[in-house]
Amino acid sequence: MDSEGLKWCLALQLLLPHCFLETRIQGQLADAKLVLSGSSVSLQLSNLTKNYLRLTWFYTTNQKILEWETNRPTPNYFNTKFKDRVTLDLQNGTLHIYDVQEEDSSTYILKVMLMTGFEEEWSIPLRVFDPVPKPDITIEKTQEMNNRCYLILFCTARIQSVNYTWYGDSGPISERLQGGVLNITVIPQNSSKFYRCEASNPVSQNNDTVYFIPPCKLARSSGVGWIPMWLMVMVPTILGLLLI
Ligand SMILES: *[C@@H]1O[C@H](CO)[C@@H](O)[C@H](O)[C@H]1NC(C)=O
Ligand SMILES: *[C@@H]1O[C@H](CO)[C@@H](O)[C@H](O)[C@H]1NC(C)=O
Repeated sequence: MDSEGLKWCLALQLLLPHCFLETRIQGQLADAKLVLSGSSVSLQLSNLTKNYLRLTWFYTTNQKILEWETNRPTPNYFNTKFKDRVTLDLQNGTLHIYDVQEEDSSTYILKVMLMTGFEEEWSIPLRVFDPVPKPDITIEKTQEMNNRCYLILFCTARIQSVNYTWYGDSGPISERLQGGVLNITVIPQNSSKFYRCEASNPVSQNNDTVYFIPPCKLARSSGVGWIPMWLMVMVPTILGLLLI
């Protein structure tokens, strides 16, 4: 909605409830932007006032990234870690940040000095995450007793702030989940062909799988996987022998 539409909305909001809803959504900047490290981000306000004297982007409340007095041709980029990685769109005040890193996570602030002398302020939270590396499953325990198989598997991804989810044939396994630990009892009726650990953060995921061999064994690769592996080794060898 443009500012003209917004004014109409404000005037009519008692009459038109949907109008009211739209203006509310516009003001909602509380949801953090979640992005993968290395990507480019645009911090943008759809409802930025057109006529302002000065615009300032902050990294934190007391660290300025840039400031633009609108009677000057270019903004002043301060000497920060952002200096060579940001540009300001002079048309709409959007801050473009390139090659974002985890340490760039912050609540960014935009302050705008209006011609009326009032200052407006917005906060835009940004959270940057590294891609989740492949986790490792450690087989801690496999024990067979009275036709039951007790399994304890650990899953670790070498990265902070990840969530772990375990999957079997029939989807996620929710039983007694603590961190990356899977501690389950398997009977033939509810065994799964595999157990997969998925490590994830809001922007990426990675996984590792072990395969179940009844009644109570685990293997790193499935039986199916072995055949192509075997062929890959054998075929060149046989060809090699034929060529001699
Ligand atoms: C499988 O069934 C047994 C016996 O009913 C139960 O104790 C166990 O929690 C079940 N395991 C899974 C992974 O559903
Ligand atoms: C496991 O992770 C890989 C990325 O390493 C992804 O391509 C694949 O789709 C994932 N598998 C599942 C079942 O999520």
